[in-house]
Amino acid sequence: MQTTELVRFKKLGKQITVLTAWDAISSSIVEASGADVVLVGDSLGMVVLGHATTLPVTLDQMLHHTQAVCRGFCNPLSKQPLVVCDLPFLSYQCGEDKAVEAAGNLLKNSCASAVKLEGAEPETLLVIKRLIRMGIPVMGHLGLTPQSVHQLGYKSQAKDPDSQNKILRDSKMLQESGCFAIVVEHIPEEIAGRIRKQLRIPVIGIGAGNDCDGQVRVTADILGLSHEQPPFAKPLLPGRELCINALKKWIESTNPSQENPTIKTSELKSDY
Ligand code: KIV
Repeated sequence: MQTTELVRFKKLGKQITVLTAWDAISSSIVEASGADVVLVGDSLGMVVLGHATTLPVTLDQMLHHTQAVCRGFCNPLSKQPLVVCDLPFLSYQCGEDKAVEAAGNLLKNSCASAVKLEGAEPETLLVIKRLIRMGIPVMGHLGLTPQSVHQLGYKSQAKDPDSQNKILRDSKMLQESGCFAIVVEHIPEEIAGRIRKQLRIPVIGIGAGNDCDGQVRVTADILGLSHEQPPFAKPLLPGRELCINALKKWIESTNPSQENPTIKTSELKSDY
């Protein structure tokens, strides 16, 4: 799958599906699900590494996990999903040269074909243009941008007319700078719809309603594996409970005399 396919999907009106993966097991599951794109998101900082934010994630960690994701695929290369890797905090905010080195390192040493980065400030647009001139496709990310958590928090964005006009302008700038798609996170559906209509490139939403060209989700949220989930990421499976019960059953079976009853889903507390 190539980045240009996604623009074709938009033209055809086919909804694009993007799921995160962080290791070989998760990528083999996501690949088998038929998702179009695997995002190695820096949300792995929280989901996998146990950090409170995405900020501590390093470039080496992103590369390490992206390589594992790539090793997990079972299909031949031509049938594999497109792999997009997040550029972690401070790998692109310090200038174009550093960003090219970081993004180039990810593409050179893994099967990722593109990077994602957050924001559309003038400095960021320069970075995006330079990456694209160097042959590195870029996915943008607007709205709730977790690397700016200390400025924006995890609240929904684009609620007042000024910030709505800004995100509409920013999304155009990202398209003009050459992004092949953008993620819009935690913004009103109406604004996501307006962005979708004004752009040729696909707009992939998370917590942005259904009027988008596609959707992205953190796989651990959908599977109900995460300790805490954002309000817009409803689990489709009680994953934690299923896993805990299966493991309890195994423990019980290895020592049948031990009192270790299988717990009921309703008895499980989130801090289990
Ligand atoms: O890091 C991530 O998983 C993301 C998605 C939430 C879009 O950026």
